[in-house]
Formats: sequence, structure tokens, C-alpha cells
Amino acid sequence: MTSIQPAFQYVDLAPELDEGTDKDLRESWPEYGLLTLESASFSHHASLPFVLRKIFVAVRPYEKVGIVGGNGSGKSSVLNMLFRLGNNSGTVRIDGYPVKDLKLKTLRETLSVIPQCPVLFSGTIRNNLDPFKRHVDGDIWEILDDVQMKNKILNFNRKLDTLVSDSGSILSIGELQLLCLARAMLMGSRIIIVEESSVDHETDMFIQKTLRHKFKDCTVITVAHRLNTIMDSDRVMVLDNGKMVEFDEPSILLNNSNGHFRKLVDQAGRNEAQRLVNVAEESKRLRHIMLLQSKLQYPGCHVTVSKTKAEIINYFGTQVVYETTV
Ligand SMILES: Nc1ncnc2c1ncn2[C@@H]1O[C@H](COP(=O)(O)OP(=O)(O)OP(=O)(O)O)[C@@H](O)[C@H]1O
Ligand SMILES: [Mg+2]
Repeated sequence: MTSIQPAFQYVDLAPELDEGTDKDLRESWPEYGLLTLESASFSHHASLPFVLRKIFVAVRPYEKVGIVGGNGSGKSSVLNMLFRLGNNSGTVRIDGYPVKDLKLKTLRETLSVIPQCPVLFSGTIRNNLDPFKRHVDGDIWEILDDVQMKNKILNFNRKLDTLVSDSGSILSIGELQLLCLARAMLMGSRIIIVEESSVDHETDMFIQKTLRHKFKDCTVITVAHRLNTIMDSDRVMVLDNGKMVEFDEPSILLNNSNGHFRKLVDQAGRNEAQRLVNVAEESKRLRHIMLLQSKLQYPGCHVTVSKTKAEIINYFGTQVVYETTV
């Protein structure tokens, strides 16, 4: 990854060992954005204990998944695990291909990240948004308009040629996150990982809204610090001390009065908890309407938010081999 970098502040500056080769990688990969974790564990260094332990999960194509959990439960470590920024065990696959066999460059060009603290910018705004020089300026301005950053950049003397380090003092963390969002849109990644920032609630809400509109056909994983942002997710993953303790639709998790998610929601206080429950119920209703519509439109289509494990295997056939509990 050239310019906007994820949580690389966590890793040593020594060159990373890359054992991936991209061997037998299909030219069309990644086609769908199916992310599977099979007994996946992660530690920040081989000498350190696992902080994510034996996670089995399949995140379906197009799915919007929120990750929640208490402090230190492992939410941010999921991002590190996906980007191979540490010591992975078990298997993580994207559309059936093991992430460990990918060249790091391929992996980091495939996943787009909108990190919590996008501090490690270098180069110009143009380089950051389009590191592989695949787009004309017109495309870049259009995307900047989509993320409501066009006017801001137009006001810089050197416009797209402004060095991000120069603009750093005048761009907030939220605005840097919006640039990451623009970059993900330009890259056309199938899988986007967002780490919600804890400073700028409005930007978070805007990012979530934009993700839902502009990334309908992408798998989006949001590491959440506030429940508000992920109540309308398709599914929520709850982490506790490095273990995945719950993974289901928010409205289903809320029905379990002793469940981890229900408890997290209840901690918000009675009125706020009720509001969050209402958001989950409303989004469930909308999802079911969309599901019905998609079945009417595409009678043969199995890629819907209500897919079961059997349906996924059915859809992907033998191309995607994964052994996991959904
Ligand atoms: N760079 C690191 N090196 C070593 N251990 C780390 C590193 N980053 C996090 N950890 C440890 O990994 C565990 C999980 O931390 P992580 O940051 O993933 O949790 P989190 O759920 O994101 O927490 P928070 O809500 O505070 O952001 C914790 O025990 C933490 O101390
Ligand atoms: Mg964190």
C-alpha cells in the first residue's frame, strides 16, 4: 500500500516478511467479497499471546457487518489480522483464496481500509486517492464531490497537488477519513473495513450513510465504538476477550435478554436502548422488503442477506471451499 496506510504504526519498520506468492490466483479474483475465517487466531507478534482466538465466521458478499465489544476485546485486532499485520494462525480466505498465500501488495490493494487515525499520509492528495494512477482528474473530483470534500480541496492553492503533509494541519481526522473513503471508492474494492473514529460523530454517520449507498455491492465491516452506527447492520459480531461470542442480525441478538449484545445496548440507558432497538427493528423490516424485492427481480439469485451456509456453498459451487459454521 503506497500512501494511506492502515494501522501500520503497530508494526516494526523493518521490511515485512512476505511469504505470499499469488500462486494460482484467479485473474477475476476477488469476484464476490466473501470473507471466511476458519479457526482464525491472531497475535500482534509471534512472541505474544493470541488476542483473537479461534474465530469461525463467514461474512457474506455484500454484507454489512458491525464489530462490537468492550475495550481490549480485539475489535481493532481484526483489522490487523486481515492485513496480516502480525502473527496469524488458522485460515482467512477472500472468495476462497487463502489470504496467507497472497502477496502483501495484492492483499493491501484488495482490501480498502478507512482507519480510525489516518495519520500516515504522504505524497499529494492525488497520489493518495489514486496511487496506481488509474483515473483522470474528472473522476477524482467527482468522487471528492460524493464525499463532500470537493470544495475543501478546491480551496487549496495547489488543489489535487497539495501535499497531504501540508494539508495535515488543516484537515481534521474526519476529513482524512473522508479521503480514505474516496480512495476506497476509486479503487473499487470488494471489501471495505472501516474503523469508526471516536472524535467526530457526524463524519462517522456520513461515512456510514455513504457506505450504504455507494458500496451496496461490497462487503463492509465496521469496527464500531458506538452502537448507533451499526444497529442497522445486516449482522453484528460481538467480541469478548478475543473470542467471538455472538454473530447474528441485531434484532435477533436483542431478543436474548442475557446476551452480550443486549447487555451492551442496555448499558446505554433506558431511552437510548429503546431507540437503538427501534433502529434495529426498522432496519430488519427494510431488509426483508429489499429481500422480497430482490427475489422478485432475480428469482434465481441466492446472494441475498438471508443466505444460509448451504445457499452460499450452492451459489459458489466448489470454487469456494470453506469449512465453517455460519
Ligand atoms: N500493537 C499491539 N501490540 C501488542 N498488543 C496489542 C497491540 N494492540 C493491541 N494489543 C492488545 O490486543 C488486545 C486487543 O486489543 P484491541 O486493540 O484489538 O482491542 P479493541 O477491542 O480494539 O479495544 P478498544 O475498544 O480499546 O479500541 C488487547 O489486550 C491489547 O492490549
Ligand atoms: Mg480498538
